Amino acid sequence: MDWGMKNRMSHLIQADGRCFFLPIDHGYFQGPTSCLEKPGETIRPLLPYCDALFVTRGVLRAAVPPENTKPIILRVSGGTSVVGGDLANEGLTTSIEEIVRLNAAAVGVSIFVGSDYERQSLLNLAEMVNMCEDFGIPVMAVTAVGKELEKRDARYLALASRIAAELGARVVKTYWCPDFGKVVEGCPVPVVMAGGPKCETEREVMEFVYDGMMNGAAGLNLGRNVWQNPHPVAMMRALRAIIHENATVGTAMEIFKEVREAEQKGRKVRKRKG
Ligand code: 5RP
Repeated sequence: MDWGMKNRMSHLIQADGRCFFLPIDHGYFQGPTSCLEKPGETIRPLLPYCDALFVTRGVLRAAVPPENTKPIILRVSGGTSVVGGDLANEGLTTSIEEIVRLNAAAVGVSIFVGSDYERQSLLNLAEMVNMCEDFGIPVMAVTAVGKELEKRDARYLALASRIAAELGARVVKTYWCPDFGKVVEGCPVPVVMAGGPKCETEREVMEFVYDGMMNGAAGLNLGRNVWQNPHPVAMMRALRAIIHENATVGTAMEIFKEVREAEQKGRKVRKRKG
């Protein structure tokens, strides 16, 4: 691995081998998603607690100050919408010149294994890997399922994740699922969990994240379950503790409640020691 690639990877995956990405790319096919109507306002209080931001070039330019020091993972596949024919029918949206110009630390491309557009989306990934490897830029594959959320089981996600790694993805983002260890075991590159639609309770989120981490995930790329929560900073801080401080579900819930209560009373909560 060349210096540039190593350097970018080390900005994404921290010294403890773990990572917490904040995705705000949902608008590229969903439009003004709830709580993300003004992405700049949504992320302002959350940025200090993430390791990288997953975003399209349009929102990056419009809503993220260039002085931002968090690494940028640029979403570079798209071309579909929730009201169109098939979410899987994606192409590549962003040139390598633009990726370099925007100083991306990595890029993200969706693949739709098992869909009518499987081949096209896998070749999108391979093409982006070919371009980005020349510049030392890691590609994160996103194992997308479109509207077919029921596809998210270990057998399917292990298949999709392995294929993504075989095609050259340096990181794979996939969904958490029961038996998550099977997905990680079959994938030779770091596996990061996405969240999917908002869970009913905070504890449910903490539980699946904790389970994923215990089963070998490198980290998290969690959007709606953070910024659609009425207390997104409390969610970020609690989840960060699971990822980077080996917190249990119980400790993470305590942090969540402590930060939420402090927010309600208008005071700050310092980082816990140990
Ligand atoms: C959407 C994405 C998101 O980055 C990913 O799904 C994570 O967000 P969430 O936790 O809200 O599912 O790829 O296109």
